[in-house]
Parts: sequence; structure tokens; C-alpha cells
Amino acid sequence: MRIVRTNSEMRAFVRQASGSIGLVPTMGAFHGGHHSLIRAARERCHVVVVSLFVNPAQFEEASDLDAYPRDEARDAAEAAELGADVLYAPSVEEVYPRGFATSVRVEGLSDVLEGVERGPGHFAGVCTVVTKLLNVVQPDVAFFGQKDAQQVAVLRRMVRDLDLPVELAVLPTVREPDGLALSSRNVRLNPDERRRALALSRALRAAEAAIAGGEREAAAVAAAAREAMNGVDPEYLALVDPDSFQPITTVDGRVLVAVAARIGATRLIDNTIIHTAATPAGAPTT
Ligand code: PAF
Repeated sequence: MRIVRTNSEMRAFVRQASGSIGLVPTMGAFHGGHHSLIRAARERCHVVVVSLFVNPAQFEEASDLDAYPRDEARDAAEAAELGADVLYAPSVEEVYPRGFATSVRVEGLSDVLEGVERGPGHFAGVCTVVTKLLNVVQPDVAFFGQKDAQQVAVLRRMVRDLDLPVELAVLPTVREPDGLALSSRNVRLNPDERRRALALSRALRAAEAAIAGGEREAAAVAAAAREAMNGVDPEYLALVDPDSFQPITTVDGRVLVAVAARIGATRLIDNTIIHTAATPAGAPTT
């Protein structure tokens, strides 16, 4: 596996590559979720590029950026082991040279839930860096995890609106056996926090159970989910349309249940998409 640091070297590699290119954009600190993305890229594409860049533009809090776990040597070894061809790990100066002044922003979708909690610049930071990665690597397919459901929705809209020639492949959230969604931030949890972090996946299972039991009022489903968090206070716990991220009042068709909570100093997110039979247009809803 080659480690590439500059855009020009990455472009030169892409020019001579033959066959489909898969890109797995990451901020490093690999876990099983990243592994599943790299494996999927390896299965689908002739050439696999994994990018590793802790993107300062998507962190609103300097302390969060500083505390983000980094271990490039370990990530590089894992990417190589999983069959990546290139680890593209540019410096901050390479991605954001002096005088950089451009931002890509998806209106509306970026302004709810994570956009509120993480600040207005978060998704603009994600969209700007992903646009740059797509421009430099020019992949046929880019791989993302469903755990960042709103990021996926924002990026899908960006790709559609800007006619970017790439397919987005979205893979399911990978979980610990007890349900905790894998996250690079989990390493910061102490044993008591690790136990309390299960509140998020418990809330999602409670929402699924309420809907499976016939509940269709979004507020009642949300109340059941909150109850299951056993005193952990969510930053948000919302039932929304999975594409527009607009709140729903009645569960009908596909619904995304999204939750975020601070466990000690660590902010965690999780979500689930629940499918119910949609009520045919014109049919009574009660
Ligand atoms: O999901 C992530 O790790 C990041 O938001 C991404 C897509 C690599 C952009 O920095």
C-alpha cells in the first residue's frame, strides 16, 4: 500500500489507475465500522483509496479537534491489511492552503439536529472537504457509514445538486455485541461511561419496539425511547424523514430515529431507520 501526501501525487496515481476507483473517506482512528467500508470497497472496486484527514473545518470546538484520537501508523497497517491500494493522508496545508476561501454548503438539511448541536459550520466543513477529496481522487464509488445518517443525507443532496459523478454507497452501522455503535470516540469512555453509553442504542430499540407494537404517534414513540435511556438526557431524540430530516408527527412508511447524547465529555450519536407499511394516499389514517 502506498502512502500519498500531496494532491499532485494522488492525481498522478489516479491518471495511471485502470478500472473502477473506490474511495473510503475517513478521519482515522479506525474501528470495525471503517473496516467494513474498506472491505466493501475492496469487494466492489479495482482500486481502493482510503483517505485519512482529520478535517479542522468540521470541528466547531477546538478542544474536540485536539482530543480527536490519532494513530496514523496503526490506521495505515490496518488499511494495508484490508487490501487498500493507497492511503491518502494530506496535511492541513495541502487541503487548505493559505488564502483558502471556498465553502460548499447544503441549505436546510445542514441546519437541523447535528447542524444545530455541532454548529452551522459543521456540515459545510464536511461538504467542502468531501468535494475536494472527490475532485482529487475521482472515485466511481465513495463509501460512508449509516451511523452518520445526516452526513449521508447532506452528501447525497450535495452530489445530486452539483451533478458530481460518483455513487455513494452506504453501509450499516457496526455495533458491539451489547449494541453500542462503534465510534472513534468510544475509546474516551471510562467503564462507567461505557455502560451509560448503552442508553443510545436502548432508546433506538425501544422506539423500534413501540412501532412494532403498533404505536404511530411520533411523540409517543419518542417518549418510549427517552424512557429507555434511564436518566441519560439526550441532546436530541427525534423522529424525522430519512431524506429531508424534517420532523414527522405520524409514523407512516420510512422513519429515521436519531439520538445524540453527551456521556461525560464524549458526544455520541446513533440512529435507526424503521420501515412500516405506508398508508395508501387517500386512505383514512385512523
Ligand atoms: O465521517 C467522517 O469521518 C468525516 O466526516 C468525513 C466524511 C471523512 C469528512 O471529513
